Amino acid sequence: MTKILFLDQSGKPGGAELCLLDIAKPYRDTCLVSLFVDGPFRQLLEKQQIPVQILATKAIGVRKESGLLQGLSSIRELLPAINRIANLSRNYDLIYANTQKSLVIGAIASFLSRRPLVYHLHDILSLDHFSATNRRIAVTLANRAALVIANSQASQAAFIAAGGRKDIVECVYNGFNLELYQHLPAATAIKQQLGIEEDKFVVGNFSRLSPWKGQHILLEALTHCPEKAIALLIGDALFGEQDYVQKLHAQVAELNLEHRVKFLGFRNDVTSLMATCDMVTHTSTIAEPFGRVIVEAMLCGTPIVATSAGGAQELVESGKTGLLVAPGDVKELAAAINTCIAQPEQSAKMAQAANVQARQRFDGAIINQQIAQLLSKVIKK
Ligand code: UDP
Ligand code: GLC
Repeated sequence: MTKILFLDQSGKPGGAELCLLDIAKPYRDTCLVSLFVDGPFRQLLEKQQIPVQILATKAIGVRKESGLLQGLSSIRELLPAINRIANLSRNYDLIYANTQKSLVIGAIASFLSRRPLVYHLHDILSLDHFSATNRRIAVTLANRAALVIANSQASQAAFIAAGGRKDIVECVYNGFNLELYQHLPAATAIKQQLGIEEDKFVVGNFSRLSPWKGQHILLEALTHCPEKAIALLIGDALFGEQDYVQKLHAQVAELNLEHRVKFLGFRNDVTSLMATCDMVTHTSTIAEPFGRVIVEAMLCGTPIVATSAGGAQELVESGKTGLLVAPGDVKELAAAINTCIAQPEQSAKMAQAANVQARQRFDGAIINQQIAQLLSKVIKK
């Protein structure tokens, strides 16, 4: 079994971390996950018996979207962390960096220890998401890797457009444990637990609360939908977006939506909640690199509407496996919700087609095999 040293800067379970959880699982007897800060992600890893170690260092900021340089202080402050990772990595076959800041440390450590570097690119390196400087740093370091795994064709294309090497990048979608979707609970029981009346049309939005995830668009769209449409916002501000959370609460009050919107915070029972929803909305206002929540809705058999940019366009075939609407377009989103309310049979049919397709395209067992093959080539290089 390949011995992998995984690196991730976050202690919080964002999509990149949840993806890593599934990738690391087959290697749990031989791998180590090094997190740069402690947090609930450590517990999730430990629950799966994946060895984890916290590389606590003040030099690494936790804000995911802060600049690379700004978040990393100075390279001099990072030296102890780099040395530690370089030394540790001598016991492993390769270093697998799962986030941008871990790429910085991983790339230098890999140079020192002469262990190959793999970078899992979970971002679209466009100027919508990153400054030109951060993009240049990320691409320069990633180009030193033996392999870059892009989470979608959109992320792969943006990497190449930003100067990334074509010969090292491969697109591998996130994989999902299909067993988790085999026995989904009945909607009624969960609606009762949440105090939702049976006749409500429940729209679920399962994303961390962050301006580009576009929860404010859904709130506004709700005002163009019938009263029976209510929204559940599942997720929290994972990377310090407290201002946005306050704005969302103020928006709910301003639009008189208190009786139609529930904030459930971060939940570990997303699958059951999704199965309960009448539809799931993905509302990112800029290109989503992949969009795990879209696939999860499909695997739950719940109708999905997503925004037509980035990876989401590779996941949803509009009119066949879900609906795509323009990012940031309130009216289009409201129209899509209203279509689902008015045509339940047609949307159930699309959800069924999406379910069949998602089970084929995003089967975690197959995706883990693809990754294993790519990694074995890296070691043989
Ligand atoms: N998620 C969760 N609990 C929540 C909200 C979200 O476990 O309360 C999970 C969700 O199921 C998905 C991930 O967080 O697997 C979010 O990943 P996605 O790729 O959709 O977006 P990201 O936040 O990584 O940009
Ligand atoms: C990142 C991206 C998200 C993707 C996830 C897993 O967090 O923002 O779009 O689904 O990584 O690859």
